[in-house]
Amino acid sequence: MIPTGTGKIAAVTGAASGIGQAACRRLLEAGWTVFGLDVAQVRLDAVRDDFSQFQTRFRPVVCDVSDAVSVGAAFAGAGDRLNALVCCAGVLRTALLENMTVEDFDLVLNTNLRGTFLCAQKALPLLRHAATAENPSRVVLLSSIAALRPKIVSGAYAASKAGVSQLCRVMAAEWAPSGVLVNALAPGTVDTPMVRAVSNPAESKGYRPSGVSPVGRIAQPDDVVDVMMFLLSDAARYVTGTTIPVDGGTQAAFIPPGSP
Ligand SMILES: NC(=O)c1ccc[n+]([C@@H]2O[C@H](COP(=O)([O-])OP(=O)(O)OC[C@H]3O[C@@H](n4cnc5c(N)ncnc54)[C@H](O)[C@@H]3O)[C@@H](O)[C@H]2O)c1
Repeated sequence: MIPTGTGKIAAVTGAASGIGQAACRRLLEAGWTVFGLDVAQVRLDAVRDDFSQFQTRFRPVVCDVSDAVSVGAAFAGAGDRLNALVCCAGVLRTALLENMTVEDFDLVLNTNLRGTFLCAQKALPLLRHAATAENPSRVVLLSSIAALRPKIVSGAYAASKAGVSQLCRVMAAEWAPSGVLVNALAPGTVDTPMVRAVSNPAESKGYRPSGVSPVGRIAQPDDVVDVMMFLLSDAARYVTGTTIPVDGGTQAAFIPPGSP
């Protein structure tokens, strides 16, 4: 059965794959209207077809989050209010820092950090407009375990995600008076195309995903989206400025090689 719309509106970046796509689905199932932003038009079209049961409540928008003009146009077309922004668009490029190309470094920082900043800044007037004292608007950013415990061969990515977590803290403090709550999630390894792309040792340049957590498996996108849904719920009305690990305990303690 098609769920009835709640009247709540979200914008989700990175909507054409992985965690962003799963976030869109869960929001649509919960009755939200969702603007799904992604740079990958063909995959976004496929996601739109996949979401046809939700009819007009899924609105795909081709947008490069690293481009200020593209982001401006996307949010200008999103109406005058938003209850939530979820920033999932991101890229991972691997290399030892001494070998990393400037182009790859810039791509990672521009997409993950600048893109998050641009989307949040452009969404802010719409989030403010929707916010009420009882129902603050929400921003959920995708940081990473890499912000909390960086790894070799992914230094640019770690720096970008540390930046996202710091943006989160400052946005939270600056925007709380307008009724906008801002939090970040820090997943460990999640089974998505991003991780699959670097799991082949022939192409990973020596990068190794964090892999199986102490919980005994890697995460599925919905493990992350469950916490996102909490952050969007009334239960999280007094939570802002945090980066919440969703990593099955991966960064809780160092497990020395060879441990049982
Ligand atoms: N998969 C993991 O293990 C993992 C772990 C920690 C954090 N994260 C973060 O979660 C977020 C989602 O990752 P995922 O695993 O779902 O990745 P994914 O590769 O499956 O999806 C990322 C999406 O972002 C889009 N994108 C990339 N550049 C863009 C741009 N310039 N403008 C608009 N869209 C763009 C891609 O087209 C893709 O659809 C990312 O920010 C990632 O860094 C992922």
